Amino acid sequence: MSELLDKVTESVNYLRGNGAFDVEIGMILGSGLGRVAEVVNTKAEIPYSKIPHFPVSTVEGHEGKLVFGELSGKKVAIMKGRFHYYEGYPLSEVVYPLRVLYKLGMKILIVTNAAGGTNPYFEAGDIMLILDHINLLPDNPLRGRNEEEFGPRFPSMAKAYDPDLINLARRCAEESGIHIKEGVYVALQGPSLETPAEYNFVRLIGGDAVGMSTVPEVIAAVHMGVRVVGFSIITNALRKSQTEGATHEEVVEIANVAGARLSSLILKIIEKL
Ligand code: HPA
Repeated sequence: MSELLDKVTESVNYLRGNGAFDVEIGMILGSGLGRVAEVVNTKAEIPYSKIPHFPVSTVEGHEGKLVFGELSGKKVAIMKGRFHYYEGYPLSEVVYPLRVLYKLGMKILIVTNAAGGTNPYFEAGDIMLILDHINLLPDNPLRGRNEEEFGPRFPSMAKAYDPDLINLARRCAEESGIHIKEGVYVALQGPSLETPAEYNFVRLIGGDAVGMSTVPEVIAAVHMGVRVVGFSIITNALRKSQTEGATHEEVVEIANVAGARLSSLILKIIEKL
């Protein structure tokens, strides 16, 4: 057995021994999305710090725990809090929890994040359905020996964001009267926010939003054949980011407000899955 598989098996055994069960859907909740976890019929809540081999979250405002429960009759696992490259972890560690969820049966991953808008038509508080991404992190979670039991050496990223789930998200948004934007998410390493020239650069290469997460998790999920749907909350609009600059406080505040809307949308999607 590979070293990774050994570790994942230990994590899975610990979780199963502490009330976790097999799940169909995994979710990563970024800032402001706490409401989704609130409506879950929770069966087990396990702090990351207790799970063997899990990295430990270091960001203020990001809780670190794994919640197992049921939503609309579906078994779900929610990552409350995630790991970022800027915290110092290699991306293979950032995606470790997803390896564990995969071994617990995850077939669908719903990812969310807070991001800066680089599309000039985006406003603070907008929700963007992620259609594609560009990885500008100086690492890839699949770097190093490939673990065949998780997926192939060279996985295709042509449909990283599942076309059927994208259409479902569009339908659910329309039915709920929730207006959503769509676009390409670009991941930069942070933790410094972008300079005006860097925001321009992201726009020029085809990015509609920029952030410091999500791309590693999506790459690992696609590697494992997990279907992905993702959303960004646009917490700062381009012009303001480039003049006054975004602040972390503002990002958290807007994420909380728009997060309530995105939570309803996600609940609707899960209902229809
Ligand atoms: N840049 C990078 N990450 C972010 C931003 C931003 O402007 N806003 C929220 N997360």
